[in-house]
Amino acid sequence: MLKKKKGLVLSLTIASSILLAAGCSSSTSGSGDSAGSKDSKLPAVGATIYKFDDNFMSYVRRAMENSAKGKVNLMLNDSQNDQAKQIEQVDTLIAKGAKSLAINLVDPKAAQTIIDKAKPKNIPVIFFNKEPDANVLAGYDKAYYVGTTSSESGVIQGELIAKAWEANKAKWDKNGDGKLQYVLLKGEPGHPDAEARTKFAVDTVKEKGIQVEQLAMDTAMWDATKATEKMDAWLAKYSDKIEFVIANNDGMALGAIASLEKAGYFSGDKFMPVVGVDAIPEALEMIEKGKMVGTVLNDAKNQGKATVELATNAAKGKDVLDGTSWKLDDKKAVRVPYVEVTKDNIQVGKDAYK
Ligand code: GAL
Ligand code: CA
Repeated sequence: MLKKKKGLVLSLTIASSILLAAGCSSSTSGSGDSAGSKDSKLPAVGATIYKFDDNFMSYVRRAMENSAKGKVNLMLNDSQNDQAKQIEQVDTLIAKGAKSLAINLVDPKAAQTIIDKAKPKNIPVIFFNKEPDANVLAGYDKAYYVGTTSSESGVIQGELIAKAWEANKAKWDKNGDGKLQYVLLKGEPGHPDAEARTKFAVDTVKEKGIQVEQLAMDTAMWDATKATEKMDAWLAKYSDKIEFVIANNDGMALGAIASLEKAGYFSGDKFMPVVGVDAIPEALEMIEKGKMVGTVLNDAKNQGKATVELATNAAKGKDVLDGTSWKLDDKKAVRVPYVEVTKDNIQVGKDAYK
């Protein structure tokens, strides 16, 4: 036992400071070597975030940390967008005595690999934010999902685009052909949110009877800097042929706005409608300044809270919903609703990210 402990401490010296801190406070042996750690008696939950350097996930992470305080020893890892690294982290978390796992996959297809590690040890897994395939989730009775209904964000974004276009088309239909010429910044390909938002946003606009023409679409991997680069290139190629910028998330919408500003938009009467998803505070600011038409609230606070609540119950061997107001659907998923956010109800977004 003692020997094993030493080895663990030694190997931790080469690990990140986050892991180190978590390791020191996650002793489940009760041997007392983590005396002074206020969390040592709390049940251990092992958690991963696909990368800390993701605007929206940083808010989910904060909500998780807040919800965990005093209730659970949350051992939280940055998987740095590396699925192999995340799998190693899961091995380490299990070795350290995690009683449940809260996993934000790097690759949505890697859910089975995680389950294969947890299931033999009877450790429950709460996946969050990147939805695994339904059949993978169904294959382990102690696997759950916390997130949203991805398509809902696309539908709401599409409705928002259609409403705004109808109200402003005299100005926004720059070439007067009655069609909405758009460019679309897509999130990570294969990510259920990115795929569904791309499809349902455009389908919904069409269903509202608006003709559309896609000038360009490409991934910017949820990332503002990449989105600025894409938008720079599209502006160089299409300039004022572009009549709308649709972004799968606010990070990329903000990146597009930075590019548009460089090109002289949002001053004088040069304007470009831009929409996103998430309702992060930086996007709400843009909406207030009139540089963004609207967004769709992706409720980071409640998704982080629900993840920790389910994982805490699971770690204690309780029913995952015990003492909570969440509900599971037929896919064992808690789905937090999306909400349209424009200037008119900006407070809804502000409250959710307080
Ligand atoms: C989405 C969110 C994106 C990004 C992604 C990461 O739900 O809208 O901004 O954070 O999750 O998986
Ligand atoms: Ca047009």
